[in-house]
Amino acid sequence: MTETNQVKSKSRVQAHGEVFTAPREVNAMLDLVKQETERIDSRFLEPACGDGNFLVEILRRKLAEVRRMYRRKPSDYERFSLLALSSIYGVELLPDNAARCRERLYEIWDEAYTAHCRKSRQAEDCRKAARFLLERNILCGNALDLLDTKGEPLVFSQWSLIGRQFKRADYTLDGLLNAQPPQPDQVPQPLAPKASQQMSLLKEEPLMRQTSLLDLFETDQAGEKDAKPQESAVKPPPETDEEGRLLYEFPPVDYWRIHHEPTPVKGAGL
Ligand SMILES: C[S@@+](CC[C@H](N)C(=O)[O-])C[C@H]1O[C@@H](n2cnc3c(N)ncnc32)[C@H](O)[C@@H]1O
Repeated sequence: MTETNQVKSKSRVQAHGEVFTAPREVNAMLDLVKQETERIDSRFLEPACGDGNFLVEILRRKLAEVRRMYRRKPSDYERFSLLALSSIYGVELLPDNAARCRERLYEIWDEAYTAHCRKSRQAEDCRKAARFLLERNILCGNALDLLDTKGEPLVFSQWSLIGRQFKRADYTLDGLLNAQPPQPDQVPQPLAPKASQQMSLLKEEPLMRQTSLLDLFETDQAGEKDAKPQESAVKPPPETDEEGRLLYEFPPVDYWRIHHEPTPVKGAGL
């Protein structure tokens, strides 16, 4: 991007402060947290992501790492490239920017995926999974009042890869930002990366607290293979716990089937 296309129009600059960041600055800023940008599952949230200049560069760096580690094993490349994509989050006020951001991220992911996984039998399902992740992770809404375009709370999904399955847990952004630190005697200790390693891009604060993975294997997955998504399962009604944090914890599904949203299961909370 050059200086000239950092701005779309004068009116958008005046109304929304829309001035996109040039690649040189993007890279210089990301280099301040270089190690995190090169960690496949480190989570990034950009609260005014525009059309994704920061997020696409983060994805490029993560995918380079996926390639370095898994290029000889396409099935691993496949699931870890989805994990990389699932770790990138954005909020953007303007629908055209949010849509373009999703599209750019998808194009980068898909180009690399196609190059590495030509023979995958579930390629089309993987592509649907990638699109689904982006629909859930790049939200059109207001990062100040934390509401979406319909006035509903912004909800982000936390994705965890367990073997060949993805688990999803939904949180309101409000709940995540205002969550009190859990008491050690109330919460099982996390198994995977510490919350302190999950840094917001703009604020050096934990983005999402790690939930325990201990309960995952208690979920009944019987019949899941052939299950068709129910109408009610596709859009679960917003429901929070007493503190307004966890909405749903979903049973894990095969990583390439995550676009088949399973029926919500009320989670245990943080
Ligand atoms: C200065 S631009 C930066 C875009 C991108 N982060 C970049 O560096 O290229 C600010 C962006 O924030 C969006 N924006 C403005 N107010 C917002 C709000 N309250 N919530 C979410 N996004 C907002 C604008 O539409 C615009 O795309």
